[in-house]
Amino acid sequence: MPASEKSGSNQVTPEPAKLDQVTLTAGDKSVVLPVQTGTLGSPCIDIAKLPSATGCFTYDSGFTATASCKSAITYIDGDAGVLMYRGYPIEQLAKQSSFLEVAYLLMNGNLPTSQEFAAFDSDVTHHTMMHEAFKGFLGGFRHDAHPMAMLVGMLGSMASFYHNDLDYEDPAERRLAAIRLIAKVPTIAAACHRYSIGWPLRYPRNNVPYVERFLQMMYEVPSEPLELNPVAAKALDLLFILHADHEQNASTSTVRLVGSTGANPYACVAAGVAALWGPAHGGANEAVLKMLGEIGKPENVGAAVEKAKNKESGFRLMGFGHRVYKNFDPRAKIIREMTHEVLNELGINDPLLDVAVKLEEAALKDDYFIQRKLYPNVDFYSGIIYKALRIPTEMFTVMFAIARTAGWVAHWLEQQEDPENKIGRPRQIYVGAPERDYVGIDKR
Ligand code: CMC
Repeated sequence: MPASEKSGSNQVTPEPAKLDQVTLTAGDKSVVLPVQTGTLGSPCIDIAKLPSATGCFTYDSGFTATASCKSAITYIDGDAGVLMYRGYPIEQLAKQSSFLEVAYLLMNGNLPTSQEFAAFDSDVTHHTMMHEAFKGFLGGFRHDAHPMAMLVGMLGSMASFYHNDLDYEDPAERRLAAIRLIAKVPTIAAACHRYSIGWPLRYPRNNVPYVERFLQMMYEVPSEPLELNPVAAKALDLLFILHADHEQNASTSTVRLVGSTGANPYACVAAGVAALWGPAHGGANEAVLKMLGEIGKPENVGAAVEKAKNKESGFRLMGFGHRVYKNFDPRAKIIREMTHEVLNELGINDPLLDVAVKLEEAALKDDYFIQRKLYPNVDFYSGIIYKALRIPTEMFTVMFAIARTAGWVAHWLEQQEDPENKIGRPRQIYVGAPERDYVGIDKR
């Protein structure tokens, strides 16, 4: 069947119908279902009454057609390639804002005044240190542990440090938990990196901004001060802005699902990090670099594209395709331009960039990718920039996690204030054995 005839997730959404309610008939039963609309985006049929009225549930594997909550944080129009945080287009934020300001925006709903920003910056800066006992946790990891595994473990252990004294009913305490997460995740991430290479841990320094502080914690050795390259800091800040939030993606939905049970926020974010790690999600940036390395040179691109088209190969072009974007990923557009700029300014000539450019060109011309609306996503070029900044490949997804922490905590805060918040509890279509009688082991 040609891709255009399929009803899969690669189709462009048609113009939405204009309606207030929908009447659904299931056999001899009928139910009027209300339609809910937000400020932007497709209307949603509210199916909450469906089971009690008809005895039926809905099936939507992978949530391709289901809204799980109402949110005022991020808006995506996948067909038009639009991404906005709190109404501000990503292109404007990328050009004019900073990651910490974006984190404030996501958490609080509006851009800060200069006093509000100074207070927020100071709060984050003064919560960057880790409890000394964390060193004991770190010491328990094998020296070659993947840093994402360490990050999940370390964040999970944070729940034990800040549990008994946390009152979720108090908005100030919830905010403090959010600030601690934004502040400490870079410290923990850098500590994981240093542990894996056997360097002494580096304490955060308060007199430098957020991104520079992280780079210092990653790279400064006790024997000499680090000369920070402003190009590197600017590039990393921009990548953090682009990765800060992306509405109800797999990791954010995980944070919300865990959050819906009333779990500790550090445990919720640890669960989000685990979900991010998969190669279909945040792990793709690491997978892209490995793939480009394996392709090796531009001449091998054709064979890689053919392999990706062959379902039997089990190989996909990493950094290509997106559940929501069916036109282009606006973040990829910004990163592509930035990659060339950063490599030029840092004087780096990376042959993997030539492979990436050739691969993108070849895939965008290929019918398979055109029909399925598969475009480069945010992860396609980000790894090349991380590599230029000397970030080790296994740390790429950790970089994503540092940035996405801002989105995760914003969603957690929003959820805790949502009067409609209920424990997340999907249903299933049971396909197992029907009822049968137990047979003793001697008779089986
Ligand atoms: N290479 C080759 N074929 C692909 C690719 C790809 N990267 N992505 C999707 N397809 C094909 C897929 O085989 C299917 O073909 P067919 O219709 O013939 O069966 C069709 O395109 C639709 O794919 P899908 O898996 O149903 O689409 P999805 O919306 O469930 O998956 C995705 C989206 C991002 C998981 C997928 O495109 C993918 O695996 N991409 C590679 C991994 C990647 O780059 N992930 C990062 C996503 S962006 C960052 C983030 O959100 O974390």
